[in-house]
Amino acid sequence: MYLTGTMQINESGHLEIGGMDVVDLASDYGTPLWVIDEQGFRQNCRAFREAFNRQGDSLVLYASKALTSLAIIHMVHEEGLGLDVVSGGELYTALQAGFPPRLIYFHGNNKNTDEITLAIDNSVGRIVVDNFYELSLLSDLCRAKNYTQDILLRITPGVEAHTHEFIQTGQIDSKFGFTLPDGQAMEGVKTALNTPNINLVGLHCHIGSQVFEMDSFRQATALMMDFMVEIHNKLGYQLDEIDMGGGFGIYYSAGDEPTYAENWADAVMSTVEEKARQANINIPRVIVEPGRSIVGPAGVTIYSIGSCKEVNNVRKYLAVDGGMADNIRPALYDAKYTAILANKANLPPQETVSIAGKCCESGDMIIWDIELPVAEAGDLLVVFATGAYNYSMSSNYNRLPRPAMILVNDGNSDLIIKRETYADLTSNDLIPPRLKLPR
Ligand code: LLP
Repeated sequence: MYLTGTMQINESGHLEIGGMDVVDLASDYGTPLWVIDEQGFRQNCRAFREAFNRQGDSLVLYASKALTSLAIIHMVHEEGLGLDVVSGGELYTALQAGFPPRLIYFHGNNKNTDEITLAIDNSVGRIVVDNFYELSLLSDLCRAKNYTQDILLRITPGVEAHTHEFIQTGQIDSKFGFTLPDGQAMEGVKTALNTPNINLVGLHCHIGSQVFEMDSFRQATALMMDFMVEIHNKLGYQLDEIDMGGGFGIYYSAGDEPTYAENWADAVMSTVEEKARQANINIPRVIVEPGRSIVGPAGVTIYSIGSCKEVNNVRKYLAVDGGMADNIRPALYDAKYTAILANKANLPPQETVSIAGKCCESGDMIIWDIELPVAEAGDLLVVFATGAYNYSMSSNYNRLPRPAMILVNDGNSDLIIKRETYADLTSNDLIPPRLKLPR
């Protein structure tokens, strides 16, 4: 289950990705190393695009918060997806990569003037407006430029997706969007329709991330469609787009049971169609924004094992050369991962160990209790499904330089993000002259 895309065990008993032996990758690029399987990434892009397009008028946006870089954005464009960005920095990255602005949807619950200006000046396709403050700020900025911006309104439908509470977003008590059940969303729509220089095109919602229940999506889609019908009936206004966000769950460890893009497409698209038919309104274009389900499974992290500590009758810790600075998810969300020893990939598991990071913090654990062959210093541990929200949430905690990222395909490997150096770590540091002590 953890071997996805082009991952396989080769004749030497080593893990291979994109036709490259992980042992060679580690010696060529050093560790820790993030590896993205190009074919796996592209296949996932295609799977979502084709599944949704097959069912009707739709646009799949890649949620670039999961992982963004110039090379990643290039591939997203080549695969015919649109793009979800959530900050000036993500928007800048997309523009630098030459991504077509009209296919960019700009999210965020507190976009500032500079970010909105960057979006307007580059004519992004949609701004997803989160709140009343943003509506008036956007309108003012557009008016000053004599420009009209197409927008979606972010709605909080009041659906609780079953996932970690930190990554739930559709519930009533959320910082995001216009709340549906208490009438705020209707007020938002009315305000948007009366606000100059703004063209309300549709509605958006995102109920959470790493969600497996198809029913949560069906329920949220039904609520959003009911709201669209209400807008049509009460205000006589037909909206053209419904954006159901991302959140499709992936396999990290035992118990995770992801489904296929086709099933997500079916759940969302059939609900939209049914509701539109019943109410006799036009079927809106469906937008979705998968991030994790596209890039998560396509990425792995290669670590070298270093020290080992055995606590008698308690546990054995194996420490790797990275940790919470390159993967904060176990510490933040209690996320579980699976891993293998890439250079001993065909050996049977022999002992239960726990994988510790090298940061100065007890909570810096990558995996608690995993069965592995007996490991020694220098062995390579590959942690699976680290493509999403690892690099993008990485830090320099303990002044660890960020690892490099490579793209592998068909026996080739290319650096797509350089490894940070110690010099990078101090490159933004300044010493005010008054701190310079006389010699
Ligand atoms: N659209 C919107 C509006 C979102 O807020 C998100 C994720 C997505 C799309 C993409 O969701 P995905 O398909 O990747 O699940 N740092 C957390 C995940 C936070 C997700 C935030 N929003 C983690 O590491 O699990």
